[in-house]
Amino acid sequence: MKGIVLAGGAGSRLYPLTMAVSKQLLPVYDKPMIYYPIATLFLAGIREIAIISTPRDLPAYEILLGNGEDFGVQFHYVEQTSPRGLAEAFLLCNDFIHGSSVALALGDNILHGARLSSLLRRAVRMVENKGGAGIFGHAVRNPSDYGVMELDSHKKVLSIEEKPVKPRSPWAVIGLYFYDASVTQKARRVEPSARGELEITTINQMYLLEGALTAHFLGRGFAWLDSGTQESLADATNFIRVVEERQGTKVACLEEIAFRSGWIGAEKLLARAKKHKGTVYGAYLESILSQIPGTESL
Ligand code: TTP
Repeated sequence: MKGIVLAGGAGSRLYPLTMAVSKQLLPVYDKPMIYYPIATLFLAGIREIAIISTPRDLPAYEILLGNGEDFGVQFHYVEQTSPRGLAEAFLLCNDFIHGSSVALALGDNILHGARLSSLLRRAVRMVENKGGAGIFGHAVRNPSDYGVMELDSHKKVLSIEEKPVKPRSPWAVIGLYFYDASVTQKARRVEPSARGELEITTINQMYLLEGALTAHFLGRGFAWLDSGTQESLADATNFIRVVEERQGTKVACLEEIAFRSGWIGAEKLLARAKKHKGTVYGAYLESILSQIPGTESL
């Protein structure tokens, strides 16, 4: 399965913060926001990833992330000339997807919780083996801000509505979606909504109509944060800070995930640590190595 991170958009709710800087480059405590959705894709086992952003901001993402070799993955860069909606990702990435299944992660969504990786890998396997789509629901107090699932008593999805005034449940659809290769054809059939956007909810509705939509649910042990407003950005920073300080480990440290997944070796990890020398992040990367017997002499 391939992956896409959507890191364009206007970011208008964060003005003036995002007047000159892409939202997904803003800090969430100790790393750029985009590290978190990339980490989510890494944890799902996805190593070929397209980053979509605006012509203005795409070069900055290339400086930040490079071609992916530092992490043992491949990054591709794709322009979105204006924010026409989430479903446009599949049209822009048609060549990149090239008949593969694909995961889409929104660049301002953060996921954290125990056994997240196995949950994500299960969703990947389901789509790879059986086709169809996989989405994740998380109960929230403000479902009207999101796509909302209506569920029957067995938690089977009956309908999905985009930003309903009267939500039929507290279950919001989070910004992480898994699709089979038919998503590109479906995206071509999406018409702009009343607010003028190509909605991801329309694609999910198409899968639902085909009986090919599986919803997974994130329970109380999972945190799902989006960081698109001043308040939620501050909350995300505070959340990550508290978790990292308390546990002594980092959330969404890309080098760590790559190393523990066996995608990069000790030497590459050490090279990254040297690049960040004199910083808390660099010291953390070194500390990972010191836990591995036999790497002391590197
Ligand atoms: P939103 O948060 O819905 O939109 P936005 O980032 O443009 O912010 P605002 O509403 O404040 O103007 O977008 C969700 C994510 O998807 C976010 O990371 C930006 C990204 N995105 C794109 O890359 N392209 C798009 O066309 C849209 C609509 C969003």
